[in-house]
Amino acid sequence: MTLPPDQKLYEGKAKQVYATEAADEIIIHYKDDATAFNGVKKAQIADKGVINCKLSAFLMEKVAAAGVPTAFVRQVSPRDQLCKKVEIIPVELVVRNVVAGSLAKRLGIAEGQRLSRPLLEHFYKSDALNDPQINEECAVILGYARAWELQAMREYSLVVNDLLRAFWGDLGVDLVDFKLEFGRYKGAVVLADEITPDGSRLWERGTGRHLDKDVFRRDLGDLSDTYRELYQRVFGERL
Ligand SMILES: Nc1ncnc2c1ncn2[C@@H]1O[C@H](COP(=O)(O)OP(=O)(O)OP(=O)(O)O)[C@@H](O)[C@H]1O
Ligand SMILES: [Mg+2]
Repeated sequence: MTLPPDQKLYEGKAKQVYATEAADEIIIHYKDDATAFNGVKKAQIADKGVINCKLSAFLMEKVAAAGVPTAFVRQVSPRDQLCKKVEIIPVELVVRNVVAGSLAKRLGIAEGQRLSRPLLEHFYKSDALNDPQINEECAVILGYARAWELQAMREYSLVVNDLLRAFWGDLGVDLVDFKLEFGRYKGAVVLADEITPDGSRLWERGTGRHLDKDVFRRDLGDLSDTYRELYQRVFGERL
């Protein structure tokens, strides 16, 4: 699908956002670019955009069927999705089931410890500040989100966690943690952005092998091969 460059609203590290004829709809175009450490490490990962676009579309439909409103409308080409244009709430929600990543680092604990219940963490969405962790009080007082919006985001995140844990579990994969973004659309809070292995930790059950972007961050192998393997697990066919 060729998208008109003059309609480009925003270009991020992994995706481009284009305007459409409808004022309240956008096209989200998934690129093959991978970045880590807030853009310091960069590479092109063959077919990552195609894999993430299809995976996210598939998972967003499941999430919507479970009662969580989403910005996703439909996939319109291998790398493009039609979505509702939302006002992104600058508070990212991280859901954790197992200790890993920044939680392990911050508290000096080993990765792999299972948490007794899901832990929700909030981060202020700011590339300039490297997405610092904040608490709900801070987010409300500084006006990043309203209390009721955060409440909805937390409830939706737990529903998504239950769904994704079961989904990946059935495929022999443990959902360690993942990040969600939400937005405002016609007065309601909706799940936006993406659900992909770029923003999730997925460990193969039994072996603990990483099936997510940590393969790239930590130089553990070929990310393109890893994402192709995930694709095959989910869709039952090779890309
Ligand atoms: N439905 C939507 N409506 C409006 N904006 C959206 C929607 N879904 C995602 N976005 C925004 O589009 C951008 C997607 O680009 P990408 O994921 O490449 O960004 P990024 O490099 O991760 O940077 P950042 O998220 O910090 O802007 C993000 O800013 C995301 O918040
Ligand atoms: Mg992003």
